[in-house]
Amino acid sequence: MPFLEVKDLILGLKEKNLSLVDKVSFSLEKKEILGILGESGCGKSLTGFALLKLFPPGITYYSGEVIIDNISLYKLSEKETLKLRGRKIAIILQDPLSSLNPVLTIGEQIEEVLKYHFNLRKHERKEKVYQLLKEVGIPEPKIRAKNYPHQLSGGLRQRAMIAMALAGEPELLVADEPTTALDVTLQIQVLELLHELNQKKELTIVFISHDLGIIRWIANKVCVFYAGEIVEMAPTKELFNNPLHPYTQSLIESYPKEDKIKRVLKGGVVNLLKKPKGCRYFERCETPCKDGKDKHPELISVKDNHLVRCFRYA
Ligand SMILES: Nc1ncnc2c1ncn2[C@@H]1O[C@H](COP(=O)(O)OP(=O)(O)OP(=O)(O)O)[C@@H](O)[C@H]1O
Ligand SMILES: [Mg+2]
Repeated sequence: MPFLEVKDLILGLKEKNLSLVDKVSFSLEKKEILGILGESGCGKSLTGFALLKLFPPGITYYSGEVIIDNISLYKLSEKETLKLRGRKIAIILQDPLSSLNPVLTIGEQIEEVLKYHFNLRKHERKEKVYQLLKEVGIPEPKIRAKNYPHQLSGGLRQRAMIAMALAGEPELLVADEPTTALDVTLQIQVLELLHELNQKKELTIVFISHDLGIIRWIANKVCVFYAGEIVEMAPTKELFNNPLHPYTQSLIESYPKEDKIKRVLKGGVVNLLKKPKGCRYFERCETPCKDGKDKHPELISVKDNHLVRCFRYA
């Protein structure tokens, strides 16, 4: 049994009876890092949030399963879910200001998490706050714990948010573009921190990004999303050395290398309100297959652990 298993997850718009994430399935062993890659609007964040049973307004869960460490998330009551969230699984986002409370100091916010999940005395909680801040590389934790989010620099805020996510000692962390808003130096530091947490604390991570370079560096395994579905999935090395889907191939070729951008993906993102009946990549594909016009390809296994949704491999 894998540590995390997502089976045929379908999420969509309540009002319009329209799916936005379609039959997404993947699994992850403990301590693995899964990269979710794909352009804007392809369903990465909705999938990430659904791993905590969280939904933006208007979005609903239709069907599918999320099993974390043998616990089937969508069979739990609201109360049981709350116990799990923050404790077993936590999330960090691109913009720490949206997850941090502006009127509480970061120490107070971390203490809140500790109070909710653990039975600690006040001084033990304080010590734990300092330890967490230290762990994420925040200098002078005793002073910083008294700061409000706006008093911290962007990099420190990001670290404070990570400390808060780690407070419940989660085993699974969803990181949704956690470094996108940071400059390159801070970006590398935060990535190194997450990597270290993965190694030292056996933290399993689902890392969402549209940046190939970051995914390639941090992930063991990659899912490529396109228009709400997985179009390719493989171990990282295999995916980058041997991309099969034309979309993955274009993504890799478009990634700036040295001083050149070789090819830019043509066309725009698919409008999920008007999903094509056939292959969703058909319109943008440089080598479209005949079948793709009207038929929707299934995700098929081409070789060990390498899956692709494209008629040319059928
Ligand atoms: N609350 C909402 N109401 C209506 N549509 C939504 C809502 N949230 C997301 N969507 C739509 O669902 C689709 C997937 O959104 P999602 O946020 O998962 O994309 P993403 O891959 O994370 O994109 P980005 O890289 O821009 O963060 C998009 O087409 C988006 O417009
Ligand atoms: Mg997103």
